[in-house]
Amino acid sequence: MTSNPFSSTSPQIAASILSADFSKLSAEIAEVDHGGVDFLHLDVMDGHFVPNISFGPAITAATRRSTTAFLDIHLMISEPLRYAPQFIKAGADGLTFHCETVPDCIKAARELRQQGCKHVGVTLNPATPIDRILPALDEVDHVLVMSVVPGFSGQKFMPEVLPKAVAIKKRLRSTQRLEMDGGLHAETIRQAADAGVDWFVVASAIFDEKDRAAAIATLRQRLSHA
Ligand code: DX5
Ligand code: ZN
Repeated sequence: MTSNPFSSTSPQIAASILSADFSKLSAEIAEVDHGGVDFLHLDVMDGHFVPNISFGPAITAATRRSTTAFLDIHLMISEPLRYAPQFIKAGADGLTFHCETVPDCIKAARELRQQGCKHVGVTLNPATPIDRILPALDEVDHVLVMSVVPGFSGQKFMPEVLPKAVAIKKRLRSTQRLEMDGGLHAETIRQAADAGVDWFVVASAIFDEKDRAAAIATLRQRLSHA
């Protein structure tokens, strides 16, 4: 795995640990590392912004102790600015906040950076129009387009978000990255790539498979053929 996915312009696959077996988290992380994923995506849910509760700073810190890989933290929480310092302290490399949770995305992105966040991302739900994030594009390092309604892994990919990805990608600088999350697997990942996505978040299509390395190789192979 890499400690800095921004240093590559090749497609990057991020394993979302939401579908991992938490009773043996470091073994799960080692397995997807050897299997060839590029970095880890951590889905933090508060049972308020989304109807599910996952984990918080303690599991983030435990993950940090298990790997030197880039930790991409997806904050599905109503008060991202309130809790961000705890995740930074726990070893987050990137923090992504939902535009639906803040009154002003520009201010939120600047505040996260002031708090010490190394890489700031903004994300939007499938139903949220891109106008909500466009003013903040200069302030962020990456944009995450949700391709499911956030809350759970294993949901069906929503191809209707692809035009949003295309429109956002056109506006990004070469140093910025476009990420997609939700329902990505061997049959859908190519559509995301064709829409300009750089980083692909995958939970169930890796962790629900017996042979994780083979699953990752199949995803990689789909990305390598235009
Ligand atoms: C959805 C999460 C995703 C999720 C993806 O709320 O943000 O990161 O873990 O799961 P899959 O890949 O199974 O759709
Ligand atoms: Zn996520």
